[in-house]
Amino acid sequence: MNSPLTAMTLGAILAAGVTCSQAASLEAGKISYAKHCAACHGMAVPTWSITAIRNAINDRRSPMKSMSLLSDAELQDIALYLTSTGGVNADRLFDWAEAHYPALLAPPAVSQSLAGYYGRYYTQSQLTLGVRAGMVYLYDANNSMAGFVGLGTLSSWLIKAGL
Ligand code: HEC
Repeated sequence: MNSPLTAMTLGAILAAGVTCSQAASLEAGKISYAKHCAACHGMAVPTWSITAIRNAINDRRSPMKSMSLLSDAELQDIALYLTSTGGVNADRLFDWAEAHYPALLAPPAVSQSLAGYYGRYYTQSQLTLGVRAGMVYLYDANNSMAGFVGLGTLSSWLIKAGL
């Protein structure tokens, strides 16, 4: 049985390297996407990964000439927005986390929507990994006083995990 301390350690490991809150970036990305991308791609937000967007930008055959006008910061905001809604990208991160922290995130769990979070509950450690509004959270049922502990943005985790 994992102690709350073990869960805190995971939180510390996961939190390392994640710098600041990006709520403003998320809003900026939403506006930028509507302005620069939605005309061709529609407003039903696709769940493209950071890698897919980078590849599309770098693809010389791509008709997305408007992208060359965008700064790295703008593209980063757009990427954050596109990966903020959970679903596919959250699942990628959960799969990665299960593979990297098998002692804590076991047995592999199925994603579900619960109380506004999209996440997975691990019966052995009683940890829950969740995503909400573009942020990744950890909840430890053995240390419920701590509540949902923020670990940074989903976007920054996808970059960190190379997904
Ligand atoms: C002028 C129309 C147009 C605009 C504007 C545009 N795109 Fe595209 N985009 C396309 C087309 C067409 C393709 C398919 C290219 C291909 O597969 O050869 C594409 C492909 C992509 C892909 C690859 C999709 C995949 O499934 O691999 C991504 C990611 C993407 N666009 C993101 C963006 C983002 C982000 C923006 C805004 C910054 C944007 N696009 C703006 C037309 C556009």
